[in-house]
This record gives sequence, C-alpha cells and structure tokens, in this order.
Amino acid sequence: MRIACFSTKNWVRESFERANEGAGHEITYLEASLDETTVSLSEGHEAICVFVNDVVDAKVVQGLADREVRCVALRCAGFNNVDIQRAHELGITVVRVPAYSPHAVAEHALGMMLALNRRYHRAFNRIREQNFSLEGLLGFDVHGKTVGVIGTGKIGRVFCELVRGFGCRILAHDKYPDEELRDAGVEYVELEPLYQASDIISLHCPLTHETYHMIDENAIRTTKEGVMILNTSRGALVDTGAVIDGLKSGHIGYLGLDVYEEEGDLFFEDLSDQVIQDDTFVRLQTFPNVLITAHQAFFTREAINSIAEVTLGNISEVAAGEEPSNLVSPDMVASS
Ligand code: NAI
Repeated sequence: MRIACFSTKNWVRESFERANEGAGHEITYLEASLDETTVSLSEGHEAICVFVNDVVDAKVVQGLADREVRCVALRCAGFNNVDIQRAHELGITVVRVPAYSPHAVAEHALGMMLALNRRYHRAFNRIREQNFSLEGLLGFDVHGKTVGVIGTGKIGRVFCELVRGFGCRILAHDKYPDEELRDAGVEYVELEPLYQASDIISLHCPLTHETYHMIDENAIRTTKEGVMILNTSRGALVDTGAVIDGLKSGHIGYLGLDVYEEEGDLFFEDLSDQVIQDDTFVRLQTFPNVLITAHQAFFTREAINSIAEVTLGNISEVAAGEEPSNLVSPDMVASS
C-alpha cells in the first residue's frame, strides 16, 4: 500500500524502514502531524499511519474519505484520538498495535516512582553543582507501602508484578479483575477505598468518557496526605488544575507524569528556544516534587521494533482484504 506516515521522527523512519524490508509498502514520511490543516497531505495514499497526538476527529476522517484513504493505522495502543464511529461509517478501517511492550511502560512508571521518592532528578543536578548536601532528599522505604493500581490490563499487570517484588500491598481497581493477580495476592477494591489507603497510585487504564479526569478535586480529597500519583496512561485521566491545587496545598506529595492533557502542543518537539505559552504546564514544572517525561514510557528498542512490525503487518492484512487481527471497531469504543 501507499502509506502517508504522519508525525515522523528519526526513530519512526528507521524502525519502519527496517520492518518494511519484508513488507514492501511504499511509505511517504511526513514530519507534519495530522489535523484538519494537514489532511490534504494524505492525497494519493491508501493508508495513513498516525501516533498518539495526531488528530483524527470527524472532520479529518471526512477529509481522509474524500481522498480515498481506506486505512488508518495507529502506531500505538490507545485510540481516543480517532473518531472510530465516523471512520466505520465512511468505510475506513482503523487498526492499532494493542501491545508492544507492556514492560516498557510499567518499568518507566516504576522508574518514576523511585526517582520521585529518592529525588534522583534533584540529586543529579546537585552533584553537578558540587552540592553534596542531603537536605531535602529524604525518601521512604517502598517496602511495606500500599500501592493502588487503576487498570490491570497488560501494563497494569506488569506494574503489579514489579511492585510486588518490593514487598508492597497492592490494591487494584478494574472493570474486569484479573483472577491470576487476585490469586497472587492483589486485592481488588472500589476506587474510593483504593484512594483512601494507597501511598502510591499508578494509572494504567485507557482514556474514555468514564475515566476522563478521574483524578479530580474529589478524588484528590479522598487520597492520603502526601500521596504519590503516577500517570503513564493518558493525560486527561488527570485534571491538571486539581493536581496543581493538591501540590500547592502539600496534599499531593509527589507527581509523576509521562502524559499531559495538552501534550499535543508540546511533546515530541524540541521547543528549547521558544517561550512556552501553556501556563498550566509551566506551573507544573516549578514544583520540586513533580517529575515530567514527554510521553517516553513506551520508548524502548523492543517496543519500537514491535510497533513498526505490527503496524505494517496490520496494513498488509488490510491490503490483502483480510479481516485485520488488530481492528478497532465501534463496539470497542462503546465497551471501553
Ligand atoms: P489494556 O487494554 O491491556 O488494559 C487496560 C485496563 O484498563 C483493562 O484491564 C480495562 O478493563 C481497564 N479499564 C478500562 N476502563 C476502566 C475503568 N473505567 N476503570 C478501571 N479500569 C478500567 O491496556 P494497556 O496495554 O495495559 O495500556 C493501558 C493504557 O496505557 C493505554 O490505554 C494507553 O492509554 C496507555 N499507554 C501509554 C503509553 C506511554 O508511552 N505512556 C504506551 C502504551 C499505552
């Protein structure tokens, strides 16, 4: 197929070129991200390949259909940025990469947990300035603490296994509890008791109308004083204004974000010579107990190779007229 690959970075091109040796597609690599203003770049392609912050809303889907694009291949797991219903109505097949490396994301969440607790980010900067003081670096033993995991699918499950190794009590919340995890000692509870009892809360559920701003003012009020919140899932699970208030009052003790509600205007770009216009994001950066990474949790060699291979495999299935193994259907939106 002729594929227009939006939001291309070097790592995308390299991994896709490698994976395409066997697949033989014709790929146009575009630096532009996809939205209403760039949809015309899809002209002459039967498929497009997009990432987490490309906008594939109803208008863009219409623009794709007008240009006879018949496949949207997401090179990620989440599909909250695509109007799946509209794509379905217009006969556009949407495919995704349901899992590439749950370990990559779970390990990143764990890394954030340790860095925030022991303040590695601050220690690194201090030592470079020859400041060897330990003032302000006091951490806690993770051993014996209660960790709340929201969403125990592929990534949440690995995260549970990792923190179990520290000797933590694990409380979990999921619409569909994992019986193996339960047998291994993970306690499934409703959200409120999870918020009330957890020292550390890590989010691993998808962004849906149900989970939008699940960490809001009310949820924060229910959490323990000094709680650590980790979000490596999707930015809008967290109401950023509410967490800023929680950080200012000292109620939230630590915040680790790999995702941010308005990340589409920031992440994946080098903006080091620009004035950031997002005051909320800039406020977040001022807290010593906030660690932000720019949606890099997935970013391991294993994961990106898997993403490229599965994405091109998905497109090959569509090209061959087969039922795609990794189809995103309107039912999945309704049930998520
Ligand atoms: P998954 O589909 O295997 O697991 C998601 C789990 O969340 C399922 O068990 C589901 O039942 C549960 N869930 C759904 N709605 C819920 C609700 N309202 N309350 C509680 N649980 C609910 O997905 P996976 O692979 O574990 O990924 C989780 C999320 O991680 C993705 O949706 C995506 O947003 C994010 N992600 C982030 C990456 C990053 O680089 N930061 C990379 C890959 C995924």
